[in-house]
Amino acid sequence: MTDLTTATGLTAAANLRRGLLITFEGPEGSGKTTLIQGIAALLKEAGTEPLLIREPGGTEIGERIRNILLDRASDAMSAETELLLMVASRAQLVREKIKPALAAGRVILCDRFADASVAYQGYGRQLGEETVNRLNEVALGGLSNAGGVTPKLTFLCLLPPEIGQKRLENRATDRLDHESALFHARVYTGYEAMANSGDSRFQVIDASKTPEQMLAETMGHFTRRLAEMEQAMAKKLAESLVKILLKDQ
Ligand code: TMP
Repeated sequence: MTDLTTATGLTAAANLRRGLLITFEGPEGSGKTTLIQGIAALLKEAGTEPLLIREPGGTEIGERIRNILLDRASDAMSAETELLLMVASRAQLVREKIKPALAAGRVILCDRFADASVAYQGYGRQLGEETVNRLNEVALGGLSNAGGVTPKLTFLCLLPPEIGQKRLENRATDRLDHESALFHARVYTGYEAMANSGDSRFQVIDASKTPEQMLAETMGHFTRRLAEMEQAMAKKLAESLVKILLKDQ
């Protein structure tokens, strides 16, 4: 991983002086957990220690909620209970880990976040995007334009669900992995809708590639996005400066 693009991106990441929340989403078996570990290792090499967290979980309370959610003994759980527990775990993570880390200027790599509830409970369980968004708003502390916590960038690792399910064959699986093919197809539709929404926060990664190719592709996008963020910030600062100077005249 020594090409110039990556090296530039890592330098930009190492120079970051403000918090940055980056989330990773995708269906089961999309390789996002391995991808996060690869990115974290590269960031560490470049002198930035990222905070690695996951959902559901990421805090002591959240991990207890995760156990209830993913335990196969919870088969009788209703879709609404599932959604509320996902959101409860998120509310704790936001307040206990994410907000303090952002305030400390850290880079946070989060394995699944609010979009997962839209895909899994909104689409998969068919509770609807609106219901999920209303509850997510509570967990995130408000809408994004009103102080709510929102990722700056979300990598969507897309892989057709039947391939993802096949990759799980030799792994330990949980309650949600055992859902029907139809459920996983609906989850995938949810993620596809995000990819096609036109929201620039989403960056699609082709998860049918090898882990090395996925890491290279992601770092390329990461580099470009960081440079764009820095430019946007510099432009805003310049505009504020001009305003102050004009007021003074
Ligand atoms: P993981 O296998 O990626 O650790 O995620 C655990 C499972 O929880 C996975 O099947 C996706 C699911 N999930 C939801 O259904 N809704 C959510 O909001 C989140 C964060 C995860």
